Amino acid sequence: MSLHIKAKKGEIADTVLLPGDPLRAKWIAETFLKDAHCYNNVRGMLGYTGLFQGKRVSVQGSGMGIPSALIYFHELINNYGAKNLIRVGSAGSYQEDVKLKDVVLAMAASTTSGINNTRFVNSDYSPTASFELFIKAVQYAQKEDISIHAGNVLSSDEFYEDDRESYKLWAKYGVLCVEMEAAGLYTVAAKYNVNALAILTISDSLVTGEQLSAEERETSFKDMMEIAFSLV
Ligand code: ADE
Repeated sequence: MSLHIKAKKGEIADTVLLPGDPLRAKWIAETFLKDAHCYNNVRGMLGYTGLFQGKRVSVQGSGMGIPSALIYFHELINNYGAKNLIRVGSAGSYQEDVKLKDVVLAMAASTTSGINNTRFVNSDYSPTASFELFIKAVQYAQKEDISIHAGNVLSSDEFYEDDRESYKLWAKYGVLCVEMEAAGLYTVAAKYNVNALAILTISDSLVTGEQLSAEERETSFKDMMEIAFSLV
């Protein structure tokens, strides 16, 4: 086992789906996987491995924000040999045409996190999705007629910003939506030469102030999950 994941060697699949919420991991395992078993409950951060259409896949909660998520991404890659890390999560829209329930593929992730300022002093690093996973996701969505947005997202360190209007600067530069983990995922995946993609469903809008109810969140995840499972 590693420090935060109590799985045996070989118990976690090469491809891992990564919701922030551990109960979402449980829901995904129970809803979509056959013969799923729970390999982790350290700190309640549930992780499962099972079969999707006969292929082994794992689902691991990562917590909220880059510091929490990086612990799980690091251990999955370095202690369990994960090769494809696919974040499935929610995001807040920054653009009028990115509506509630829409799916966003994060091509790149800007961030307010300091992780790369301390690595690349006085320079900017661009955390970027793996082309291989990204193109497969786009092709699947096009084939199945699932409408998607693709572009830059913001991985914020703070859910509750001081200035609610600060999103407008990011919006002006084309950032589609805000979430809290993709930049960490893309950075650590690049560092260890593995594949990563963040697929997001819009759960609220900074533009209109609307948000999905808890029940709507569950059903609206369907398109995102279908795209994610097409990559397994
Ligand atoms: N995830 C979903 N909505 C969000 C928001 N408004 N800010 C940050 N992360 C989010």
